[in-house]
Amino acid sequence: MEGPEIRVLADVGEVCRAAAEEFVRQADGFVRTNGRFTVALSGGSTPRGLYRLLAGEGESALPGRIPWRQIHVFWGDERHVPPDHPDSNYRMAREALLSRVPVPPENIHRIPAENPDAVFAAEQYAQTLHDAFRLTAGQFPRFDLILLGMGPDGHTASLFPGTEALRERERPVVAQWVETFQASRITLTLPVLNNAACVIFLVAGQEKAETLRAVLQGGGQPDRFPAQLIRPARGRLLWILDRAAARLLTSLG
Ligand code: 6PG
Repeated sequence: MEGPEIRVLADVGEVCRAAAEEFVRQADGFVRTNGRFTVALSGGSTPRGLYRLLAGEGESALPGRIPWRQIHVFWGDERHVPPDHPDSNYRMAREALLSRVPVPPENIHRIPAENPDAVFAAEQYAQTLHDAFRLTAGQFPRFDLILLGMGPDGHTASLFPGTEALRERERPVVAQWVETFQASRITLTLPVLNNAACVIFLVAGQEKAETLRAVLQGGGQPDRFPAQLIRPARGRLLWILDRAAARLLTSLG
């Protein structure tokens, strides 16, 4: 895999606009060639602006350019909370986007994180992936697009530094206790993330600058900076950054 593409834009609004254009282009392309577009959404706060743009906020003409009825929506990770919980990644995406565009309900494949047993919720989501991608035994789903963020500690999805989930190579989805939050998360694992046709990181904010420098231009410390482990074997890796997050990066060409 060649090195990642890195785009630096003025601010988080421009980051979301660039990501939205990528989303439109890829959705259109995959629907034309495959009849559907499979995307795993990321959680947190950065992508909310992207989801709102895709829903047409700010008079964007975007919604009309997207074949919503052929899109299948998944999540890269989820907090271990019910879907109506304020921390739910599903709830954020539903409020910002999915309640405002005509994605068929049967095409929305959320992680069943309301299940009190996080391990069982992970197994249920793995079954959802198996069915939606018509997988054979041992096969991993190949998403057309996976959206990711990066925390100030270098985590991505819910792959946190020093956790067992970083070493998972058999299961597509795992539940992981996260000491920092004293809570469990459910997350896609590296075999799935690195099997995608395209992974786009959206990273904004000066609080990410130091970690971003370490991830992109520091030595390999994947256990400390899990975002370094994202290298799609047969896919495209694109980092869309704002100037504040990219301020410590050197010689970007
Ligand atoms: C989550 C996300 C997580 C997020 C990063 C960045 O469930 O919170 O999947 O990996 O992308 O923490 O979050 P921000 O975009 O809010 O900085």
